[in-house]
Amino acid sequence: MDVRAQWYDALSTRISRRRFDGRSVPPDLRERLEVFCDGANAPAGAPDSPSVEPGAVTAPARACLVDDPAQQLFTGIIGGYGKVTGTPLAAAFIGRAPSGDDVPDDVQAAVGYLGEGFILEATGLGLGTCWIAASFDHVGAAELVDLTPGEQVVAITPVGYPTRDQAAGERLLRTMVKASARLSVEKLAPGILDCDWPRWAVSAVQAARLAPSGANRQPWRFRLDGDSLVMGRAEKLYCTAPIDFGIARLHVELGAQHEGVSGSWTMQSEPDVARFTPAG
Ligand SMILES: Cc1cc2nc3c(=O)[nH]c(=O)nc-3n(C[C@H](O)[C@H](O)[C@H](O)COP(=O)(O)O)c2cc1C
Repeated sequence: MDVRAQWYDALSTRISRRRFDGRSVPPDLRERLEVFCDGANAPAGAPDSPSVEPGAVTAPARACLVDDPAQQLFTGIIGGYGKVTGTPLAAAFIGRAPSGDDVPDDVQAAVGYLGEGFILEATGLGLGTCWIAASFDHVGAAELVDLTPGEQVVAITPVGYPTRDQAAGERLLRTMVKASARLSVEKLAPGILDCDWPRWAVSAVQAARLAPSGANRQPWRFRLDGDSLVMGRAEKLYCTAPIDFGIARLHVELGAQHEGVSGSWTMQSEPDVARFTPAG
């Protein structure tokens, strides 16, 4: 997947939206999203998945548009978490699991990285989205998507025009999960304010801070190690953490890139997650 510099602007305008006004996505925008899905392959910086056969042409993660005219995919759960209304278009984020097992963490991270690219692309086109990993009809999604053997739909998002004002239920849900609350950069990266962090690393943490995460748990932590930025994990993790780490990796890259720095990731063993090292 090519990381597009214009996604940086979408980082601060994106929020999860669950109520849509029923308008269809115009064909030219739909085409742009299809081009994204066709072009997105194994995400740069994602670990090589041990679950993919050597030489296999299929990437561990992919995205595709899904027409849901009956609007049945978004089932919602208690309190309306995940209940989405008013759009017949969705996107599915798909990962590959070895022989019917659960999708491994590294593939979930690849799904997070690639799916967030889709979300930021859609945001830049003026469309609303919402990562949904729990509260959707998994069987229905698998039927609507042309899955190859071993693939599973890991998460979906609605794609459409959000209502101008948030309905009472949507506002209540955002309050329940404290969707607008973000941990301070100092909490995410102790020392970031009082030591001499390079600008690219500060920008990377600020960008990661804006990332969406399941139930807004923000499971990532950061520290500088030499010239690298290391992503660690919070003490308690929510079930979506592997996807969240992949999402945050894309945000880190966009934040660093905004300060003119590109780099590469190496995966780390627990309690760390991944290390971003600037090129050159
Ligand atoms: C991996 C992932 C899974 C999510 N799953 C759900 C879900 O099942 N239902 C839902 O309503 N929101 C879901 N969300 C949306 C989060 O609640 C939302 O991103 C978080 O509260 C932060 O709010 P924001 O996206 O508006 O910044 C999910 C987000 C992520 C990143």
